Amino acid sequence: MSTLQLAGSPREHILSLPYPLVFESGELLPQCQIAYQTWGKLNADRSNVVWVCHALTGNHRVHEWWGGLFGEGRLYDPADHFIVCVNVPSSCYGTSGPVSSGLYRRFPQTTIRDMVQCLEIVRKELNIEKISTLIGASLGGQQALEWTVANPSAIDSLVLIATNAYHSPFGIAFNEAQRLAISADPTFQENRPEGGRNGMIAARSVAMLSYRSYLGYALTQSESDTQKTDGFLASSYQRYQGEKLASRFDAFSYWYLSKAMDSHNVSRGRGKLAEVLGSIDLPVQVIGVDSDMLFPVSEQYFLADSIPGARLDVISSDFGHDGFLVEYDQLEAILGHFKSKNEKQAAGRQTELNHG
Ligand code: COA
Repeated sequence: MSTLQLAGSPREHILSLPYPLVFESGELLPQCQIAYQTWGKLNADRSNVVWVCHALTGNHRVHEWWGGLFGEGRLYDPADHFIVCVNVPSSCYGTSGPVSSGLYRRFPQTTIRDMVQCLEIVRKELNIEKISTLIGASLGGQQALEWTVANPSAIDSLVLIATNAYHSPFGIAFNEAQRLAISADPTFQENRPEGGRNGMIAARSVAMLSYRSYLGYALTQSESDTQKTDGFLASSYQRYQGEKLASRFDAFSYWYLSKAMDSHNVSRGRGKLAEVLGSIDLPVQVIGVDSDMLFPVSEQYFLADSIPGARLDVISSDFGHDGFLVEYDQLEAILGHFKSKNEKQAAGRQTELNHG
């Protein structure tokens, strides 16, 4: 394990596995490395772990994309919490993926369960027995739910935001439309990091439609010039977002991660979905976004109805699925309530133990 940054700030680590990673498909990655970030310090009884699972094009640098919730003076302050986030396999931020491995389209098929396997490897590496709060949104929520079902004893409380128990036909269709855009770019067949770049720009533009909303576009991309017949703001927004992603992401990771999202089904090989979700026995907070079309509120109701004792809150946003990245005040209020309730319960349990 090598440490790349100074202590005090978020610290980036690379774990090189001394053995091949075996994927759910049975395929092997002979040499695998996992990038992850830790932030803050483990307390004496190792009870202050907040573990974040990142979304599709996110990364382990939580401060870069969830700064409204994580950081000094925020709800999850590294002065109080040990914050961990792992870059998932198939991504392109340091954990082995299609480009960094040199395997490109021959990289092993990756599922949410393969991601969870890497989370478990890092948990053991850090010698963490219990995660106080596991939190994930979107693809991150899929990992968090899968991990809770796979190893419930490692998790004390769970936050699921704008996610689902299995990926929907609508979500898979959106992802397939994006993969069609990528594969229509002939350079996707070339084994070089920029392969499929233009296809991915088109794919991201498609994805933005599913991340935002009719009203969100109306609020931010409406024209003041009513005489326009071309060169619309909404057009340049779509292109900008595509280019912006292409400056930090590659088409091969995008392809594999979207397939991983499609693979998500927490009941695969485990029996009836109702029984799988019904077996979860820990405090769970589910949060939906009222305008989210990709992971609609109906999916959040389903999770909360199926997981015993789970609490559901729905935040109000004009920005659809992106609500989980922009509606900090509402998220903070809900998560703050969940956090203090769990802390009070934990303190109560400790008092009972002390009195014996
Ligand atoms: N033409 C060109 N660029 C435009 C524009 C236009 N008409 N309108 C806005 N922009 C630019 C802004 O200048 C800004 O640029 P910057 O990011 O370089 O500062 C950018 O578009 C963001 O604008 P907007 O999307 O309106 O901001 P936001 O605060 O509402 O949302 C994000 C921020 C990060 C959530 C959003 O931009 C985004 O990336 N969404 C996708 C997130 C994602 O990957 N979700 C997947 C989860 S599975």
